[in-house]
Amino acid sequence: MTTVTTLHPSTTPSRLDKLLTHNPLQPLTRRHEVFDFLKPQHHPLIDTRHNILLYLEGVSVSFDGFQAIKDLNLYIKEGELRCIIGPNGAGKTTMMDIITGKTRPDSGQVWLGSNLNLLEMDEAEIATAGVGRKFQKPTVFECLSVRTNLELAMTGTRGVWQTFRAQLSGEQKDNIEQVLALIGLTEQRQMLSGNLSHGQKQWLEIGMLLMQKPKLLLVDEPVAGMTHQEMDRTAELLRSLAGQHSVVVVEHDMDFVRSIASTVTVLHQGHVLAEGNMADIQSNDKVREVYLGQ
Ligand SMILES: Nc1ncnc2c1ncn2[C@@H]1O[C@H](COP(=O)(O)OP(=O)(O)OP(=O)(O)O)[C@@H](O)[C@H]1O
Ligand SMILES: [Mg+2]
Repeated sequence: MTTVTTLHPSTTPSRLDKLLTHNPLQPLTRRHEVFDFLKPQHHPLIDTRHNILLYLEGVSVSFDGFQAIKDLNLYIKEGELRCIIGPNGAGKTTMMDIITGKTRPDSGQVWLGSNLNLLEMDEAEIATAGVGRKFQKPTVFECLSVRTNLELAMTGTRGVWQTFRAQLSGEQKDNIEQVLALIGLTEQRQMLSGNLSHGQKQWLEIGMLLMQKPKLLLVDEPVAGMTHQEMDRTAELLRSLAGQHSVVVVEHDMDFVRSIASTVTVLHQGHVLAEGNMADIQSNDKVREVYLGQ
């Protein structure tokens, strides 16, 4: 069955307004704002007047005739923490590839806010517009200190040597200290990143994304290989980012998803099978059949 997609304001604003009035999604979680750096960031280019940061509408993609994503609709609100679950091959990573511009869909629309058409932007432009992605395998510079990794992430394309020579402003130094505290690596700031534990490297990479002040963070399987303690800390970290950022987390570990306690979207065969809180999802017969019952 093909679903008609009509949420993006460029299509039918009236239906969008109606949906937001009778909002079925979770309210935004406003947390205590500890760090100035993490207050909602000013992104003049992204129009989120409708309170939705990311729109995927009627998105489909096939690889050699195999339909990996099929008429996918997904809406992520500003400041929301969303978990995406689904069996292997459900299309979760492909969905992130589409959002970040790595894979182009055959059809459908992908918008950041109501005004930035991500399908007209390349990967670098999408990242600059405020979409940060964390892959499963950490990609920190192991031979550099934790702090230098954060500095490099902030300065972006300036390059390693220019970063070493550059004088950081007071504000930039503050940003680094705030992110170090947030990711729990203040004491390890001078340590070589290669000497961090697996979990600490994952947090450092999240910190590196934060240095670029993204509006939307995409995180693919963050707790694979982590200890329980590290998983708890990661859940805490991701929860603390919500509100100021929209965070989309793909994860297989159900205990972890439960501990994040956000809206959960279940993907199956490239399509949304169910959406709701964890209790709704767990009691959904279709979900039990294709996923939780496995
Ligand atoms: N570049 C590609 N070329 C061909 N097939 C692909 C490509 N990328 C993904 N696929 C296929 O699309 C389907 C969805 O893959 P995807 O990696 O998005 O699933 P996933 O939900 O992330 O799975 P997992 O939980 O195992 O990570 C799979 O059948 C995969 O083999
Ligand atoms: Mg995947």
